[in-house]
Amino acid sequence: MSASGPPNGRLAIFPGSFDPVTNGHVDIILRSAHLFERILVAVLVNQEKKALFTPAERVEIIRDVFREYPNIEVDTFDGLLVDYARERRASAIIRGIRAVSDYEYEFQMALMNRHLEPTLETVFMMPAEQYTYLSSRLIKEVFSLGADVRGLVPPAVETWMKKKQQLSKR
Ligand code: PNS
Repeated sequence: MSASGPPNGRLAIFPGSFDPVTNGHVDIILRSAHLFERILVAVLVNQEKKALFTPAERVEIIRDVFREYPNIEVDTFDGLLVDYARERRASAIIRGIRAVSDYEYEFQMALMNRHLEPTLETVFMMPAEQYTYLSSRLIKEVFSLGADVRGLVPPAVETWMKKKQQLSKR
């Protein structure tokens, strides 16, 4: 590890786009919180043109979802994930695997991150079966076409999505 000190063995980072956070993400975060003392949900700041929520909005939503969990922190990051992990002295990256189709990309990322920072482990977690088909992209798609997303995203997300929809109709 770098001059910023030894890894904090109790902290794991759960990185992602979270546009928006789904019940699948929530499930993985809560499972991870049983394994690690602290979870840092790290929202990637990217220039995605089709994004529904700004990074600041995503952080606000996720903080709201986990407001009763003092061990779950939410932050944004940009640049390399391993640099951010070093800076925060995290010892693990959490990633969710929903199906075999996720595996190849996740395996490549885990090994690239290990190449860049050998002491940082990637831990793969499986969500509950009922969330294995969920993705932020599909949630946005079905919602924009009029579907009810209740039960697929936290209630706070549903509220925010409806608010966005109202604003876009003006
Ligand atoms: O939710 P996502 O979009 O699948 O998350 C992807 C994420 C944010 C984990 C990945 O794109 C990432 O780590 N980006 C930061 C830049 C970086 O470190 N890239 C190299 C990854 S091997």
